Amino acid sequence: MDRQQRVAAGRYLVTGGAGFIGSNFVRHIRRTFPEAQVTVLDKLTYAGNPANLAEFEGTPGYRFVRGDIADRDLVAEIVAGGFDWILNFAAETHVDRSIGDPGEFVITDVYGVHVLLEAVRAHGVGRFVQISTDEVYGEILGDPVDERAPLMPRNPYAASKAGGDRLAYAYHTTYDLPVVITRCANNYGPYQYPEKLISLFATNALDDERLPVYGSGKNRRDWIHVQDHVEALVALLLADGVDGEVFNIGAGNEKDVLAIAGHILAALEKPETLIAHVVDRPGHDRRYAVDFSKLTARTGWQPRMPFAEGILETVRWYQEHGPWWRPLKSGEFLEFYRRNYKFLDAAAEGGEGS
Ligand code: NAD
Ligand code: TYD
Repeated sequence: MDRQQRVAAGRYLVTGGAGFIGSNFVRHIRRTFPEAQVTVLDKLTYAGNPANLAEFEGTPGYRFVRGDIADRDLVAEIVAGGFDWILNFAAETHVDRSIGDPGEFVITDVYGVHVLLEAVRAHGVGRFVQISTDEVYGEILGDPVDERAPLMPRNPYAASKAGGDRLAYAYHTTYDLPVVITRCANNYGPYQYPEKLISLFATNALDDERLPVYGSGKNRRDWIHVQDHVEALVALLLADGVDGEVFNIGAGNEKDVLAIAGHILAALEKPETLIAHVVDRPGHDRRYAVDFSKLTARTGWQPRMPFAEGILETVRWYQEHGPWWRPLKSGEFLEFYRRNYKFLDAAAEGGEGS
């Protein structure tokens, strides 16, 4: 099979496929390449949700395995089955949780990557894609950075991802594994666990709950629609001569938190009085900004979704999918929420900030 055929009809292992980006990737592959075979390996942490993949259960060429990427025996057994493509989305992903409890981040985002790479070293693969993040560069206050910029991660999530990122690279240089590393900007879109900025604010606004803005609300991110991210990954699978390389993925769509809140409130016709400033996140990176021209030059990929359209579509999706997200905003989530946010107007909020 040539590369194109292996993308269209090959065997995929998608770790973390029950999460936000992983499930959007699986959906894209299943719809675009019906002959492809997809195995999902996912631990189903609080962020992993079988409902994200329910439509594929029992369909030919699809298999779900519940398990941990840090489980050496299980991972070796699965990888030994033989894959054209392994994409590692599995990770602990929320910066705020990493500040409260970094241990799981080191285990999954560093050690788990090592376990996967060891299995690939033993059994081989067509290409291993390590889904890293633009957060490994740390905060960027000047021009957007390209792939040669130093890694200066500043929170336990970003530092753990930097460990996994460089470990994957080391397995390429040391053992010649066919590894590609991607560093994408902030994603938004359907099926995002409602703890990240856009999914949290959209679901809070729908319930007339306040939108907790850390500090000034001036912190900036580059926002990319998840579908654009997924298409960038497919473009990289199709590309020749990229093993051992790093690719930034972005959208050139920088916005600060208050602007995002404004878009969401406007889409739902909710008042700006729902915005509530809360005590800032420790070590809060002011800005991320990557130069993704290398990816465009090497694959022709470009982001397609205009933000104004993507955010409207996303807010509508959460509006129409209450049964998907409402059950998630209960139990452990509410405990995390109360622990994490210190509202500045505690008195007006019945002591939530105390
Ligand atoms: P997510 O939190 O929605 O999903 C993560 C998934 O990984 C969940 O299904 C979870 O159950 C699974 N998982 C966690 N630990 C595991 C383990 N030990 N073994 C197996 N499965 C495990 O995350 P996401 O937003 O979809 O992010 C996916 C990947 O993309 C991550 O590697 C993340 O670092 C990276 N990334 C995310 C963004 C973003 O904006 N969300 C941006 C750039 C990069
Ligand atoms: P987040 O979605 O957690 O992603 P990142 O990994 O980039 O931190 O946060 C995006 C931005 O939104 C970041 O500047 C922190 C800010 N933010 C808030 O102000 N309030 C919130 O409740 C959340 C979750 C994020």
